[in-house]
Amino acid sequence: MNRVYIKTYGCQMNERDSEQVASSLRDRGYSIVDNEHDADVVLLNTCSVRDQAEQKAIGKAGYLKKRKVENPNFLLGVMGCMAQNRGSELIDRLPDLDLVVGTQKFHRVPDHLDNLIQSMNGQGPRPSSIVDLAEEAGSQNTIRDHIGKQGQVSAYVSIMQGCNMNCAFCIVPKTRGRERARPIEEIVDEVTGLAESGVKEVTLLGQIVTSYGRRDFPVVGGKSPFVQLLEKINDIRGIERIRFTSPHPRGFKQDLVEAYRDLPKLCEYVHLPLQAGCNKTLRAMNRPYTKERYLEIVESLRKVVPHMYFSTDIIVGFPGETEEDFDESAKFFEEIGYDMAYVFKYSIRTGTPAEVMPDQIPTEEKERRNQVLLDILHKSSLKRNESLLGTTQQVLVEGPAKKGDKFTGKTRGFRTAIFDADERLIGQLVDLKVDRATVSSLYGDIELAGVER
Ligand code: SAH
Ligand code: F3S
Repeated sequence: MNRVYIKTYGCQMNERDSEQVASSLRDRGYSIVDNEHDADVVLLNTCSVRDQAEQKAIGKAGYLKKRKVENPNFLLGVMGCMAQNRGSELIDRLPDLDLVVGTQKFHRVPDHLDNLIQSMNGQGPRPSSIVDLAEEAGSQNTIRDHIGKQGQVSAYVSIMQGCNMNCAFCIVPKTRGRERARPIEEIVDEVTGLAESGVKEVTLLGQIVTSYGRRDFPVVGGKSPFVQLLEKINDIRGIERIRFTSPHPRGFKQDLVEAYRDLPKLCEYVHLPLQAGCNKTLRAMNRPYTKERYLEIVESLRKVVPHMYFSTDIIVGFPGETEEDFDESAKFFEEIGYDMAYVFKYSIRTGTPAEVMPDQIPTEEKERRNQVLLDILHKSSLKRNESLLGTTQQVLVEGPAKKGDKFTGKTRGFRTAIFDADERLIGQLVDLKVDRATVSSLYGDIELAGVER
């Protein structure tokens, strides 16, 4: 009765929240299984950013509820963004749901499951279902425990929750609430613990990490709380690499640009969400910058690190985006020359300002624009990988590659590397001599001189 399977949809933040739920359930005596068929309880941690993500989870829940026919004790729960976004409407649509838990209540999951199970065993009144969607002050501080996977090399660390921006297309401020930061010391303690358990790389997470603590903690020596946090983490022994996602272009002031020059562990890979490369569309999206300002940021970062890697989020087919607007956007996208990008077809989100904007773009046209950007990305990404032929790249060895008997790891620029290695090299930084490059991966041999084995 205590085997739980958690399925996660969406972003890294969701993966991190699921880890927290798994860790707290394990502490409570539940066992976490990695196959839904072996589970007595299935929890879906959901995403609301685009309609497709919601439909997938709804479809899955519809399929899983059939398990109740064979096993009346089977429990099904929905957590996270879709739970928050759709609330009790979900119960109307899926009356078999036992548990609906919002984004500020992940830490309550063990209590709720205990209650459901006790009542099933006749030890309490049987709640038909539990719905827990309230806001909770301090809930950002509850995402802090790790499962402690053996040999874990890289870990996510949640530093803040919520977003106060109002991008016209985005549901996140509704699903995740207002910005709330964790204290610097608590984050530093968490990362120190991870380093002691062998983690070498941390990725700091938040919906808008560059706004971290901006209203709670002071600017010190011209440095924002986010940059202060980066500096403290850079000082932690054992941590070799720092990454973060997702920032906002607005957060790239001189202090953050200089952090790339001054903090050796901060990897030279910047995810800088563009959304559109046309000022008219940016304005309609309520994004507070122009493409000229964006280019200035890119140039200032390339000035401190000439080979800086860039990735982005961009939306095609935002309402009112004409062909000329799109061409302008595509041209700008090409001009930056991204190493990586997430291209999204605009998806209507109920309750956002863009929902009611005129001139929605037909699906086929969104499809076409999507393909145009993917083709541009393919070229620039391949060009970058080919430029690395013959160079030596530092790689953090993660483990066996999915296929074959090779190993995999990432360069500082977040390129995937594939090479021969063995288990003893997992978690180590090695030098890879690149001798083959495709759009997605770099191949070569690692230099073993100087590596601990
Ligand atoms: N800063 C947040 C952004 C969340 S949404 C974070 O990464 O945590 C991630 C990306 O999804 C956005 O940057 C945007 O490009 C895309 N997106 C958000 N709402 C969308 C919508 N309605 N349709 C299509 N793409 C969307
Ligand atoms: Fe969404 Fe814009 Fe915030 S994309 S998460 S409202 S910065």
